[in-house]
Amino acid sequence: MFRIFHASGMALVVVAGLAAQPAFAETPSEILASIQQEAAGTPGFQGFSAARGESFFKAKHGGEWSCASCHTENTAVQGKHAKTGKVIQPLAPSANAERFTDPGKVAKWFKRNCNDVLDRVCTPQEKGDVLAYLLSVKK
Ligand code: HEC
Repeated sequence: MFRIFHASGMALVVVAGLAAQPAFAETPSEILASIQQEAAGTPGFQGFSAARGESFFKAKHGGEWSCASCHTENTAVQGKHAKTGKVIQPLAPSANAERFTDPGKVAKWFKRNCNDVLDRVCTPQEKGDVLAYLLSVKK
């Protein structure tokens, strides 16, 4: 199991304290904690795995693209949109301090990108695994 998991008990308390306020800057571990709250409601949930997140991120899921098609296999460097060629800043928080600090942005792009890659939304388990993986990537 991934080590971030240990800190999440604390982070959950923080998230609960913020719940009544409008969305604003959070930390990636707070965002992971709220995904974990979602995932905890699903049967058989046993925590997130960075290794599983990495395989998920690099695999195609029956369609044309993997997550790595645009974000590259090394998420600590710039990516490139597979269709438009537009530069995409690194996805790993270690390389890009803006990543996973805006819950609205995270939700919007998980939704859009999962639909592009999987033709459905990602489950809380999948999102948490991916974020655990991204948090494990060193600059
Ligand atoms: C077709 C290209 C493309 C693919 C494939 C893709 N993404 Fe993205 N992703 C983008 C773009 C464009 C953005 C928004 C621009 C930016 O934030 O740099 C983005 C942003 C994100 C963000 C927002 C993070 C933040 O806090 O800023 C997340 C999370 C994300 N992608 C996850 C994924 C996951 C998970 C997959 C695979 C299921 C995936 N992406 C596949 C293009 C892609």
